[in-house]
Amino acid sequence: MSRSRRILAAAVLCTSTAVQSQHNEPADQQRGELLYEGGLPLNGQLRGHSQALPAAAVRCINCHEPSRRPVPGGDADAALAGAGARFAPPLDQPSLTRFHARRGGPSTRYDEATFCRAMRTSVDPGEVLLRKAMPQYAVDDDDCRALWRFLSQRPAAKGNPP
Ligand code: HEC
Repeated sequence: MSRSRRILAAAVLCTSTAVQSQHNEPADQQRGELLYEGGLPLNGQLRGHSQALPAAAVRCINCHEPSRRPVPGGDADAALAGAGARFAPPLDQPSLTRFHARRGGPSTRYDEATFCRAMRTSVDPGEVLLRKAMPQYAVDDDDCRALWRFLSQRPAAKGNPP
């Protein structure tokens, strides 16, 4: 192959890879939703413990959703009114990507890198350590990106503070 042909081939390859990764975005979001809800397993443990918790115990929805979720077709307001306090903060586009002060630290927002760091090491973007109740996850880059793409674009659920 001549030099110019090789350059052309490389350019075509780069363009198609870029297009492909754009097309992967909806697939990533779907995968992220499955991971969030526990349809796909994750590996997590409590900070300072070496033993993995059962997959069912580390589903994000266990802690990050109100204990009573609205029933499809039911009265969402009534269901949320009875939900009481949730155990952990909501995870959605406004809560993760808008600047606000977290747990007494500086005003911060997440991006993919700081989100994945928090998942793995419990350190938030303001360098504040998350409470121990939030598990630490041995999550690979693909799963973490999928979770981030789903959560960072997820509209705030009704009843969540903006
Ligand atoms: C056993 C309960 C529990 C589970 C399961 C859990 N979390 Fe959490 N998570 C928490 C608690 C509690 C906090 C708040 C910690 C704090 O304020 O220090 C938290 C905080 C967070 C934060 C920081 C939010 C912020 O605004 O700074 C992120 C991000 C997060 N969790 C993501 C996840 C994801 C993604 C999953 C699933 C893969 C998950 N969590 C599963 C309990 C849980």
